[in-house]
Amino acid sequence: MISNWQRLILKNFGKAAPNYNKEAQLQRAFAWRLAKICSKESIPEGVWIDLGSGTGLLAEALETLHPNKSVFRVDGSKEMLAQHPVEKQTQLWDLNCGLPSWPKQPSLIASSFTLHWLNDPTNRIEEWFSALSPGGLLAIALPVQGSFQEWRLAAQSSHVPFSAIPLPSQESLLKGLNKKYIRYQKLHSFTQEASGINSLLKPMVKVGAQASPQVGMSVSDWRRLKQAWPDSIKDGTVKLTWLIQILLAKR
Ligand SMILES: C[S@@+](CC[C@H](N)C(=O)[O-])C[C@H]1O[C@@H](n2cnc3c(N)ncnc32)[C@H](O)[C@@H]1O
Repeated sequence: MISNWQRLILKNFGKAAPNYNKEAQLQRAFAWRLAKICSKESIPEGVWIDLGSGTGLLAEALETLHPNKSVFRVDGSKEMLAQHPVEKQTQLWDLNCGLPSWPKQPSLIASSFTLHWLNDPTNRIEEWFSALSPGGLLAIALPVQGSFQEWRLAAQSSHVPFSAIPLPSQESLLKGLNKKYIRYQKLHSFTQEASGINSLLKPMVKVGAQASPQVGMSVSDWRRLKQAWPDSIKDGTVKLTWLIQILLAKR
């Protein structure tokens, strides 16, 4: 059964879908980074799949780098899938229900900025890896624990709830995979800057990534958070650091 939390996640992404491509600069950059790292690997013939494809940023990057391939796109939001060109193959599917049964095992399962929105990411990784054809490649990118340290510090010192989505740890993601299969494993740090915390956090809302299991913040919470944000007193510029894990495993 779909929980209210899962429903909220998909509803937010659905609402953001029409403007997603305009706003998702970070996601675009990492879709390209992941696609370029994949292009250095040999991948057996077969079907390529983008899980949690959103509007298809990763699928498009993969197809641009491999013009003969057409990437199959799977997402739980019909509004996200509606953004894909009509000739692309898409499937509406809730990835918390396991993987759909496809006629052939895929030789590439790629996924960017999606796994942390799903229940039990460690089990999902195991499941996705075992769905590959022999020699197939699993390639994922997602933000992990340790991200948003400026936000966390400001929340702690101002005693307001830290309302970012809980992220999986780097170690927990590796638990589902035997070391011998890992081809690439790296944490990439990316710092966003803005003139204030509203503009720093607004892009998350614009791409639909604002769902949080924490209670919402009051106006006075916001004020206290702003004042406590590291560096905000100097010239007003504030920072938010993401830690993005990229992981490639070959079956
Ligand atoms: C931040 S977007 C990332 C989209 C794309 N991969 C990218 O890099 O731009 C997360 C995507 O995960 C999808 N998603 C979230 N929960 C899902 C679920 N339970 N089943 C399938 N897709 C889901 C959302 O609809 C959304 O398109």
